[in-house]
Amino acid sequence: MNTLSFSLNGREVEVLAPDDVNLVTLLRDHLAMYGTKIGCEQGTCGSCTVHLDGLPVNACLVLAATIAGRSVHTIEGIGTLEEPHPLQVAFTEHYGAQCGFCTAGMLMAAKSLLDRIAKPTREEVVDALSGNLCRCTGYQKIVESVLAAAGSSP
Ligand code: FES
Ligand code: FES
Repeated sequence: MNTLSFSLNGREVEVLAPDDVNLVTLLRDHLAMYGTKIGCEQGTCGSCTVHLDGLPVNACLVLAATIAGRSVHTIEGIGTLEEPHPLQVAFTEHYGAQCGFCTAGMLMAAKSLLDRIAKPTREEVVDALSGNLCRCTGYQKIVESVLAAAGSSP
């Protein structure tokens, strides 16, 4: 077991965790942050996407022991029920989510894009979401949601 200290959604946290646990399991099983989902657990579906030091990563591929002293942002940190992020509003208004399993990862990947490019093109949105799989929406509504959040034309 290892005591890890790191920044989680802007707050310093300390947690005791097994040496071999991955970041998504650390978040869910040791910190009760259930917004980040586990799909493939082998780096191919993107459902576990979080930001590590400001960049999107597949949390299933990150060994938790490597995040000491670093900064992690999860879906719980991007908006609240009272003050949702524009991406969350757009996903709701443009039907960007159906079952919702991929949605947290999609939102974190999309937020990373909008943090870099305020008004992306459709191609840039498609490229930014290319590591995130969705079984429900056919992607069209997700892309439209991201473009709407950015105020870009569809
Ligand atoms: S659960 Fe991490 S990429 Fe699929
Ligand atoms: S909304 Fe169901 S997997 Fe994407």
